[in-house]
Amino acid sequence: SVLILDFGSQYSHLITRRCREINVYCEMLPCTQKMADLDWKPKGIILSGSPFSVYDEGAPRVDPAVFDYGVPVLGVCYGLQEIALNHGGKVDPCTHREYGFATLEVVKLGAGHELADKLFEGICGEMQVWMSHGDQVTALPPHYNVIGKTPTAPYAAIAHESKPIFGVQFHAEVTHSPRGKEVIKSFVLSICKCKPNWTMETFIDKEIARIRQICGEKGRVIGAVSGGVDSSVAAKLMHEAIGDRFHAVMVDNGVLRENEAIQVHKMLFEDLGVNLTVVDASDRFLTKLEGVEDPEQKRKIIGNMFIHVFEEEAAKIEAAAEKELEENPKAEAKGKIEWLLQGTLYPDVIESISFKGPSATIKTHHNVGGLLKDMKLKLIEPLRELFKDEVRALGRLLGIPAHLVGRHPFPGPGLAIRILGPVTREQVKIAQKADTIYIDEIRRAGLYDQISQAFAVLLPVKAVGVQGDKRTYDQVVVLRAVQTEDFMTADWYVFPPEVLRRISSRITNEVAGVNRVTYDISSKPPGTVEWL
Ligand code: XMP
Repeated sequence: SVLILDFGSQYSHLITRRCREINVYCEMLPCTQKMADLDWKPKGIILSGSPFSVYDEGAPRVDPAVFDYGVPVLGVCYGLQEIALNHGGKVDPCTHREYGFATLEVVKLGAGHELADKLFEGICGEMQVWMSHGDQVTALPPHYNVIGKTPTAPYAAIAHESKPIFGVQFHAEVTHSPRGKEVIKSFVLSICKCKPNWTMETFIDKEIARIRQICGEKGRVIGAVSGGVDSSVAAKLMHEAIGDRFHAVMVDNGVLRENEAIQVHKMLFEDLGVNLTVVDASDRFLTKLEGVEDPEQKRKIIGNMFIHVFEEEAAKIEAAAEKELEENPKAEAKGKIEWLLQGTLYPDVIESISFKGPSATIKTHHNVGGLLKDMKLKLIEPLRELFKDEVRALGRLLGIPAHLVGRHPFPGPGLAIRILGPVTREQVKIAQKADTIYIDEIRRAGLYDQISQAFAVLLPVKAVGVQGDKRTYDQVVVLRAVQTEDFMTADWYVFPPEVLRRISSRITNEVAGVNRVTYDISSKPPGTVEWL
């Protein structure tokens, strides 16, 4: 496996992706990691880029032990500069900073330099690369050779004359360096000699063994499921590992999609055998939400009530187990609930461990963070090594149906943040009906998988219309559909007009109280994905 030391570049996690794509396990740790404290032995180390200049005050420095660790090292961008500085080279600000495409001329050193030439194995002449740097190497460290240059960067790729230490100024990990993945592959497979044996099947076996070891013979785990991909996949994996000692709880908060609780029960409990309790708390939630307009207030009510209901249910599960033991002391005693399952994914882990530069943006997390504090449970996070598409692949292998595995995200506060103005039971019904029609029609048109997220929003305004020769004064539904990679930025989806026409006429015909349907053509920014 490969260790990636993160110096805070926005591209660091892409290095992880590229390694995973060639089936090599890798782990990313902050650049402050001391090699002496590492409790596993990587076969290679990659130093990432950084928003810092090596000369900035407080610029992160690599542990020099990296270079004596005895495994190959590849520095990318800032990583290259760290290599140069650590070995007696020079780094200076570029006279003109370089952002964007550049043409790299690969320099082959020939006989006697087989190791150095391995990094660009199979690549000759020129290749297009993506640069993003303000400093560059201006003097080669002793015992290093140039293996690639651009018209403005004479030391754009360097290699030690005999040790497996390499540096590249360009970002090999981004797709804008089309042959970058070949470079990473050469480093990881040919130079580090990693075995490409990290597959989802091996992940499942390893993770099940790990969960069993953590939970022991009796330990029990509780976890919330929402019907979303992550929590369903995590729940099924827990079930595979410890069977009924895992309890899934689904809280019906009254602002779920139409029939959501029934469908999740069917899928997780009936079809997949997961030990699931659905708690219908919709009345409690809707009573608390009645008339609430402010979006943050809605979120708070739902978040707090959720914790409350979940804790009540955990106590019930615990009490039932104790009673069972009292009545039948010979029964195999189940242990206490010690663990809380969370469907945390790798991007969230990266976000929390990555080295933060001064300009680091803080992402708002939407998960149920409050639970742990109050319940004194230890966290178990079986998906914490995976990216979203890997979770989907895992879900498919675990037998979760395709339509669920490919589902769009659905926010925790549910339809409450898609009903503008006060939340009432009537408004929830209207929003549910419109949402069902919208999503049905998108699926029927075969467009669901091209869209990252689609939903209907109910506006709190009324407009005049005419239906059946009668004047109406009814509500407006907004359709939203976006395409996005990471939900940080998003663009609106261009529907074929006939699909929009069908959705509009079905909603106005079938949903009482709505006489207009509009389509949201705002990107993010300046809009957000949700309306609240
Ligand atoms: P925004 O509206 O911030 O949405 O552009 C980005 C993504 O986050 C989801 N979202 C939420 N998810 N609780 C959640 O669990 C929330 O309060 C929440 N607000 C937004 C949104 O659906 C989109 O996928």
